[in-house]
Formats: sequence, structure tokens, C-alpha cells
Amino acid sequence: MIVTIDGPAGSGKSTAAKGLAARLGFRFLDTGALYRVTAYECLRAGVEANDETAAVRIAEALDVRFDGDRVYSAGIDVTTEIRTPEVTEIASVVARYADVRQAMDRRQREFAVGQNIVTEGRDQGTVVFPDAQCKFFLVADAEERASRRKLEMESQGQSIALDELTVQIEDRDRRDADRSVAPLKAADDAINVETSRLNADEVIDLLERTVRERLIDNSG
Ligand code: DC
Repeated sequence: MIVTIDGPAGSGKSTAAKGLAARLGFRFLDTGALYRVTAYECLRAGVEANDETAAVRIAEALDVRFDGDRVYSAGIDVTTEIRTPEVTEIASVVARYADVRQAMDRRQREFAVGQNIVTEGRDQGTVVFPDAQCKFFLVADAEERASRRKLEMESQGQSIALDELTVQIEDRDRRDADRSVAPLKAADDAINVETSRLNADEVIDLLERTVRERLIDNSG
């Protein structure tokens, strides 16, 4: 079974997807990490984000591996490095390139072969897994998402003003939603979940209940 969770930055997708995968015993796929590793490798190679040809070459040659919570690129643990503001910015630029997306899509489908997975991103239910049995689209208002991101960054020793974070999140939303290839949007058959006033466990409970109902429906 494939469960997709899409939504904007800070909507609680990562926590929900990880928690849901653990409860169901499914594998978890963080597709944003693939775009982030591409961005990180561009930065390391001195490739400008607007050099599409070079970014595509890097995306196609990516040697990325997940091991639990850790992300490896060419055998090196880059889990922390791919979360910096600089990599975050570059990731949202290279994610606009159709050929970068195609390289990422291929990896995501390979990851799913013969597996039960919970996959998380922007286009999982719309483009990468249009036939997924269970699709969710998580939303939350921008201020709430910014304060979640602030807490997350503080836990990593980074500090940034809330209003600045809100502007960054809104800018990134716009870029993700306005791009011509695979824009951020809910699949027609996705279940929309508003997470602003729910805690992480409540979101996971809700998703788990829905998936288990579908599993029962599908088996009968
Ligand atoms: O979810 P995230 O913040 O780790 O994603 C990093 C960037 O990658 C973000 O700008 C959106 C982009 N992305 C995408 O375009 N498609 C995906 N399936 C996942 C992420």
C-alpha cells in the first residue's frame, strides 16, 4: 500500500508521516530530503542554483541513502547539513527544474517497488503516485507553521525572528505553488487535514484511523 502525504512547509507532514509509518510498520520516504541533497551537492560543487544543466547532472548522479533518521550522500552523513537556510533556499530553486524532478520521481518510484510506504512531499499524490490508495493533504496557517519551524530551528541551535520566518514560508509557498512543473496542490482524491489546532499525536491518530479503514475496505 502507498500512503501519500503532501502539503506546504511546516504543515506537520514530516512528523505525521514518520509517526504514521512507525505505527503501520511501513517504510517512510522523505522526498524533500532528495531535493535538499541535490541542493547540498550543487553548493558543494560550486554550482549556481540557476545553472539548470549542472543541477540536472547532479540530480541524475545523486548517490543518496536513507538509514533510519539519517541521510547519506556519497556515503557521508549530511542529515544536519541539508537543513541549513542556504540549502533550503537552493532546494526550492532546483525543485523547479523539470529534469531534476524527473530524476527525483524515478528514485521515489524505485523506493516504493514491492513496499508498503508512507511518502511525504509536495507532489506525491498528484504526480509521483497518482494511484496511491490513500492520499492526504495537510494544511495549517502560515503563522502556525512559522512558529513550528522556529521551535524546530531553536532545537538545532538556530534562532530567527518569527515574522521573518513567516515571510520566508509564504515566499516558499508561493514558489512551490506557482511553478509550472508539479506545483504544490492537493490531488482531487486527497483528504484535506487542517492541522493548525491539532497536536502531532492527534494528526497521526486521524491519519492512522483513515488508513486502517481503507486497509479493511480493500481486503473485503
Ligand atoms: O519538505 P522540504 O522542506 O524538505 O522540501 C524541500 C524543498 O523541496 C521545498 O522547496 C519543496 C521541494 N519539494 C518538492 O518540490 N517536491 C517534493 N516532493 C518534496 C519537496
